[in-house]
Amino acid sequence: MGLFVAALGLVVLADIANAGRLQVQGTHFVKDGKRVFLSGGNQAWIAYGHDFGDNNYEYRKVDFEKYLKLVSENGGNSIRVWIHVEGVVSPHFDNNGYVTGLDERGTFIAEFKEYLHRAQHYNILIFPCLWNGAKKQEHKHLAELILDTSKLQSYIDKALIPWVQAVKDEPALGGWDIMNEFEGEIIPNSHSNEPCFDTTFLLNSGAGWAGGTYSAHELLRFINWQADAIMRADPGALVTAGSWNARDNTDRLNTHNLYSDNCLRKAGGRWNGILNFFSSHSYAWGGHYDEFSPFRHNFSEYGLSKPFVIAEFNQVSGEGMDITEQFQWAYDKGYSGAWTWHLHADGSNTDSTANQLRGLKYMKDKNDQSKGGLVAFTV
Ligand SMILES: *[C@@H]1O[C@H](CO)[C@@H](O)[C@H](O)[C@H]1NC(C)=O
Repeated sequence: MGLFVAALGLVVLADIANAGRLQVQGTHFVKDGKRVFLSGGNQAWIAYGHDFGDNNYEYRKVDFEKYLKLVSENGGNSIRVWIHVEGVVSPHFDNNGYVTGLDERGTFIAEFKEYLHRAQHYNILIFPCLWNGAKKQEHKHLAELILDTSKLQSYIDKALIPWVQAVKDEPALGGWDIMNEFEGEIIPNSHSNEPCFDTTFLLNSGAGWAGGTYSAHELLRFINWQADAIMRADPGALVTAGSWNARDNTDRLNTHNLYSDNCLRKAGGRWNGILNFFSSHSYAWGGHYDEFSPFRHNFSEYGLSKPFVIAEFNQVSGEGMDITEQFQWAYDKGYSGAWTWHLHADGSNTDSTANQLRGLKYMKDKNDQSKGGLVAFTV
């Protein structure tokens, strides 16, 4: 009985602590009791892999602030930003490949907090994306974390948990994306009797474009352990991992969801290491969205029991849809958010910053509680 009352007290306290925080309710997000829609963009970087840690933010902050202001002025409410990428500046490794901290000089947390404080000022939620699997790795550190669990544990203990603990009460922290598009580095067409580790269904899908080095088992364990650490350090946290294509993010459409609770737990064995929302990216290639694209389906067709964010898209690879039509589609079809690619606009497959802001501006006054939800919420 005493235990029961204590447990009840904890639940009540947890509710109070979470007041105002973005939360998952069924298949959408809520904030302060209202359904909300994440309307925003991918930063994704100012200087790729060199934005946070060892004082780098000091030299990037004018640019980061520029985009916070533009997104805010145009009514956007969220930004996805890439942090470690492949671990050149952050985290810091010793000579044996073990992580000793978030960076060498110990400035990372203050830098990231400063960014969150500026985001709060502009009323924007930040979604840090830790690692990048979409580009062939040029440094060995990330590979070692994926393959060697004692090294991965050193990252969790010395970097990830201290980081989560330091920012979990920051109002501008939206949620965590463990890894961008691990499919770039997955070995496709690998047979396994365990369906979660069988990648034969990815044959000729394009998966493996960035090296095809790791098994599904290794990559899913990598995500499971980090998600578990985040959830234990902050039980109210939101965690996702951005898939390159919904092809491996659903059990419907004759395909397989590698990101399911079952597959993540099976790979890493850590119960809390699951995602509480899904996110996937969608670009038209050769002028067409493929059969798995969220721009070809409504949310219900994926059969998912958690919110789903279209976490990368743009008009330039958008099958002729205008960015306002893409946003409207995401909003009308049951998705929980949409993030344009990408605000810094320094690559080939990107919309201009101006076009992305036009999309955000189109979304800013939306507040239909029966679909989509409120865009202009208060962080
Ligand atoms: C989703 O699309 C399917 C197939 O077109 C349709 O049957 C279903 O009614 C749609 N559901 C919603 C909620 O729009």
